[in-house]
Amino acid sequence: MQPFKKDFLWGGATAANQFEGGWNEGGKGLSVADVARFKPDVDVQDMQKQWEITSQDIEEAARTTDTTYYPKRHGADFYHHYKEDIALMAEMGFKVYRMSIAWSRIFPRGDELEPNEEGLRFYDAVFDELKKYGIEPLVTMSHYEPPLAFVTEYDGWYNRKSVEFFLRYVKTILTRYKDKVKYWLTFNEVDSVIRHPFMTGGLIPDHFPTPEAFEQAIYQAMHHQFVASALATKLCHEIIPGAKVGCMLTKLTYYPYTCKPEDVLKAQQDMRATLAFSDVQVFGEYPAYLKALYARKGIHIQKERGDDEILKSYPVDFISFSYYSSSCSAVDTTGLDVAPGNTCAAIKNPYLKASPWGWQIDPTGLRISMVDLYDRYRLPLFIVENGLGTYDEVQPDGSIQDDYRIHYMAEHIKAMHDAVELDGVDLMGYTCWGCIDLVSNSSNQMSKRYGMVYVDCDDYGKGTYKRTRKKSFYWYKKVIASNGADL
Ligand code: BG6
Repeated sequence: MQPFKKDFLWGGATAANQFEGGWNEGGKGLSVADVARFKPDVDVQDMQKQWEITSQDIEEAARTTDTTYYPKRHGADFYHHYKEDIALMAEMGFKVYRMSIAWSRIFPRGDELEPNEEGLRFYDAVFDELKKYGIEPLVTMSHYEPPLAFVTEYDGWYNRKSVEFFLRYVKTILTRYKDKVKYWLTFNEVDSVIRHPFMTGGLIPDHFPTPEAFEQAIYQAMHHQFVASALATKLCHEIIPGAKVGCMLTKLTYYPYTCKPEDVLKAQQDMRATLAFSDVQVFGEYPAYLKALYARKGIHIQKERGDDEILKSYPVDFISFSYYSSSCSAVDTTGLDVAPGNTCAAIKNPYLKASPWGWQIDPTGLRISMVDLYDRYRLPLFIVENGLGTYDEVQPDGSIQDDYRIHYMAEHIKAMHDAVELDGVDLMGYTCWGCIDLVSNSSNQMSKRYGMVYVDCDDYGKGTYKRTRKKSFYWYKKVIASNGADL
């Protein structure tokens, strides 16, 4: 295979809420991730039940220091292992490392006027370590980690104050790290607020009188995130000349289950449900089809004067996205099987195999997704999440022979290569998800592993947290060294 372009950014991705740990150290406040409960009795494919949360659940969680049932509190303990972890990334040849800053480590409640210096120092140390090895940080400002006090006391992103609080945090980190970070993403999977409003938007269902009021709050929160994202982009360009800011979208790719025109239309509509979000961040305005949806549902967005101009004036520089699997759309779903996927469930595709969690494996879908996004936006793309979440078994000799992961990644990288070489897509880089094992977002399990480095920790947080290179570690090192030519 031809190598990728010379400056192609190979690397891996994590997020503080699932990887960092140190939940009660260095002055960090609680975030929504710290109250996400591991529910071993609930089906991992039933995401709505996994995510169900009430005010009472939150109060109980906030009272305990337990980490067994709140595994995002320990993650993979990057907080204490960052030097070792970054050395492993360097050994694989990473050019870029995607990570997030935990907002509640910088502003523990979200509403303070002054930041937590100890939190800022931690990320200084991380960025300095990355620099030592020539690894470029790609930083997500918000990855499922709104501070808990901001959520319980202010109703999170529903409250207009969210924009002010978030921008104070953003200004703080941009100013502090202006010489260390030049690639930024505003909100992880900004579209996910419609699927998990608590994690993304900090919205607690029982704070709202009716399901309709809750739905209204979701769209209002989404508006505030759009405005905050545009203003964060503006600030970033002002504070760090030459910096690049991307949006981050869950690329949910749907195929019509049959060639019946109604199924084709359904697939198109399902895709637009997430593309609407990047449309706003790229074109700087709400697409007509989203406005039509609001009119049908009776949703009314409260805007402040100047919001429309803000959206229009500060679009993103590039499009980043996660891609794990694809699924199907059908108008009549009678008798069709359902398959779970990244934060959603849809119709199962009979032509595809699936992971043990039921996520369907579809490398061609990655190529289709890239072409879709590039044809629509004509902006550089960045694949910031992709990978196989599955069980790994440690062999008696201590090794982890994860050929299935190598196969998954090789097929996806081939598809991405075709999108670049044959379809003309401009791709900045590829960061596979959970390059070092971390806690699953949807199921709070550690046993759903994505990494090329194994972390000795089980679903109950027990283990030494020792890091071990898997077979895929050596494979990915070779891929990066050959710039993608040797898969
Ligand atoms: C993406 C998220 O949705 O998918 C990550 O940005 C998440 O936070 C990843 O971990 C994989 O999902 P899961 O549920 O397998 O962890």
